[in-house]
Formats: sequence, structure tokens, C-alpha cells
Amino acid sequence: MIHPTIRRVVRRIRQLAKRAGHWRLRWVLTNFDAQHQGVEYAYETITRHRAYAPWANDKDFFAVYKIARLHTLVGVERCYELWDLIHNLSSLKGAVIEVGVWRGGTGAILASALARTRPTETIYLCDTFRGVPKAGRHDSLYRGGEHSDTSIAHVSGLLKSLSVSNAVLVEGVLPDQTGSQIPPGPISLCHIDVDVYESARDIVAWVDDRVPPGGILVFDDYGFSSCVGVTRLVNEIRETGRWFSIYNLNGHAVLIKRPPDPG
Ligand SMILES: C[S@@+](CC[C@H](N)C(=O)[O-])C[C@H]1O[C@@H](n2cnc3c(N)ncnc32)[C@H](O)[C@@H]1O
Repeated sequence: MIHPTIRRVVRRIRQLAKRAGHWRLRWVLTNFDAQHQGVEYAYETITRHRAYAPWANDKDFFAVYKIARLHTLVGVERCYELWDLIHNLSSLKGAVIEVGVWRGGTGAILASALARTRPTETIYLCDTFRGVPKAGRHDSLYRGGEHSDTSIAHVSGLLKSLSVSNAVLVEGVLPDQTGSQIPPGPISLCHIDVDVYESARDIVAWVDDRVPPGGILVFDDYGFSSCVGVTRLVNEIRETGRWFSIYNLNGHAVLIKRPPDPG
């Protein structure tokens, strides 16, 4: 471990290097900082620039988002990606699951998109509604119990206000307490927004066999330094080679199930 003052100086130089556009120096210092803190994953502030924003003139999305945004921690670019992925999956059969609902914002967006594209399909919105369980040694910020400031009634109210009727709310730890409440059958998309390693690992182990080729796992927390356990888990899954993986700079990791090996 290096002295905190040296670390502060390195950070300051890194900020100045960023401002001045010295990318090489910035990367060298980020790497130095990460290595001397003994962390495995480096994080940087990604420069924001003017970028294509398809959500800005998508009236159908906006009609949902303008309400859902008051009930979510997730930024518009990731909310729009969930909306868009459901539209892209319209020909794949299978339920949708969200684990990590909190006050229901992203769940409402997924449910609304699903109702438009596959009206007979169900979305299961799973949460303890008592805060994050299973925080452990792989997690950087979470200690357990965060995000308990919600309730089933709150989420039901949100869904009702959007006239969404295809969602089933499932209360308890998934899969340990509630896995058996989800009827058997394929799962076309699972949105995992649970913040910590063990919880995400157990959900993936439970859902894996039920995701058909072309089905998708979306990890909300992959890109965030507050959720380093999820970064670790997704990198472990990527190493198995069983999923196509898309690293999105909006923070998401998107994994798409590969077809079985013909050999
Ligand atoms: C960051 S919040 C979800 C945010 C939400 N998607 C949004 O739109 O803002 C994380 C949630 O995951 C839930 N959670 C974590 N692990 C879980 C598990 N194994 N089963 C059920 N809920 C879980 C916590 O209770 C918490 O409400």
C-alpha cells in the first residue's frame, strides 16, 4: 500500500492529465493507482461527449420513462437499452425476469416493452423488498441491507399507473426463497441488478439452463466501481466462452447465450 498523500497526488495529476488530453499519462497513472491499492479492476471517469441518443425522440419510450424515471436509480441510456433489447427479442419465446427491482423503475420499463411486443408473455419482478442480501468479501461498497426503502405496494402502484398487467411481483431472495415460484419454461431475458457478487452468481447458476440460445442476461452493475463483485463475476462468466459478451460503456454487460457446439 502506498501512502494516502502520494495516492492523492497521483489522482490529482491524473485529473490534470485528463483535462489536458494526455491519454497515455492518464492510463499509466490509472494503472499505477489500481496496482498500488491492490485492486484487480481499474476504473476511470469516461469522458462524456455528444452522442446519438435514440431515446430523445422515441415517444413510446418517453411516455413510460417520464413516470418510471422517478422510481429508478438507473440512467436513461441503460433504461433505453432494456427497452430496446425487449423489442429486439420479440421473436424469442420465454418469460422475462428482473432480479433487483427496488422501487420498480426498470421493471416497469421492461414490463411495458414486453406488453407491446409479446402481450401474452409474463415478466417476474423479484426482490427481497428488504434490501440487498449476500454482500461478501468480493464486494467493494455494499455491506448488506441497502435499498430497503421500498415495498411491494409501491411497485404495484407504479405498474398500475402505467396500466401494466403482465407483471408478477415475487418477494424474497431469488433463487433460495423464491426460485420455485417461477413456473418452469424458457427465460428470454434476465435483468440482474443486485449489486453484489454472491447474489448475482446464484441467480446466474439458477437461470442458466433456462435461457435458450439467443437469450440474454443483462448485468446493470458491471461498469461501476461500487459493484466490483459484479465486474468479477461477469469476467469469470466471459472466460467460460459459453456466452457472447458485449461490454457496454454505459455500465451494462450484456451476455447472449451461444448456440450449442455442433461437435
Ligand atoms: C440497486 S437495487 C435495484 C434498482 C432497480 N433495478 C432500479 O430500477 O433502480 C438492487 C435491489 O436488488 C435486490 N436484491 C439483491 N439480491 C437479491 C436477490 N438475490 N433476490 C431478490 N432481490 C435481490 C435488493 O433488495 C435491491 O432492492
